[in-house]
Amino acid sequence: MQTLNTIEEFRKTKAALPGSWGLVPTMGYLHTGHLSLVKRAKAENDLVAVSIFVNPTQFGPNEDLAAYPRDLDQDLRLLESLEVDLVFNPTPEVMYPPNYQTYVTVEHVTKVLEGASRPGHFRGVATVVAKLFNIVGAERAYFGQKDAQQTVVIRRMVKDLNMPIDIIICPTLREADGLAMSSRNTYLDAEHRRAAPVLYRALNAAKEVFDRGERDGDHLRSIMRGVIESEPLAKLDYVSAANATTLQELDPHPAPPPSQTAATGEGVLLSMAVRVGKPRLIDNFLYENGQWLTGEVAYHR
Ligand code: PAF
Repeated sequence: MQTLNTIEEFRKTKAALPGSWGLVPTMGYLHTGHLSLVKRAKAENDLVAVSIFVNPTQFGPNEDLAAYPRDLDQDLRLLESLEVDLVFNPTPEVMYPPNYQTYVTVEHVTKVLEGASRPGHFRGVATVVAKLFNIVGAERAYFGQKDAQQTVVIRRMVKDLNMPIDIIICPTLREADGLAMSSRNTYLDAEHRRAAPVLYRALNAAKEVFDRGERDGDHLRSIMRGVIESEPLAKLDYVSAANATTLQELDPHPAPPPSQTAATGEGVLLSMAVRVGKPRLIDNFLYENGQWLTGEVAYHR
């Protein structure tokens, strides 16, 4: 495994390694969820590149970029053990040199949910991901379903800008009690860690009524809200039951069958953000093509 810090070095090294490439973009501080993306990329490509870059443009002025957890040595050890071929680990100056002024703005799907709470966040994500796609030149890129809106934004960008790359979305990995794995879980103290699976419980409560045929957006949202509000240590930011492509909220009184929108047509995304002590946790369930997503989904260019 080689670790490269500049774009020139990366491109030169990659050019000498022919074959199909999978890219796993990360901000480091790798956990089992990231490693599952790497394993998937290894299984589907001749060669794998992982980027480790804490991207400053996706942090808001009130979000502590400096406090984002980092452990490069440990990350490199883990990636080496998985036999990753190249690691791209640039500095902010390499990615955003002086006089940098080009950004990618995906319009509607970035305005709601996480985008409403974190203005500018997805502009930073789309920009850095577009740059990484251009620098690495992989055939496939791997992202986790845990950041559901991020996957929607990236897929929209790839489609709209005709980027020659397949996007592979891998399922959320969970702790035994259902808590979605995330670097932010390290900020949970013991008491809040015990409370944190409330997100998973809320999603399951909505899933249960959805599976019995409920498609009223207000009802699905109120069920999730009720579960979150029953946990005194949890502070709700938002709950959403939305169209999985447009991210528009489902109506309170959806049109009746025969189309059964959610059963046969476009997907439904149940999602939420909840502050549990220090960290703000997000989680989601995705219903697509008549079933809850439990495995990998490939979106071809
Ligand atoms: O999901 C992340 O870790 C980041 O948003 C990403 C995709 C690596 C872009 O910085």
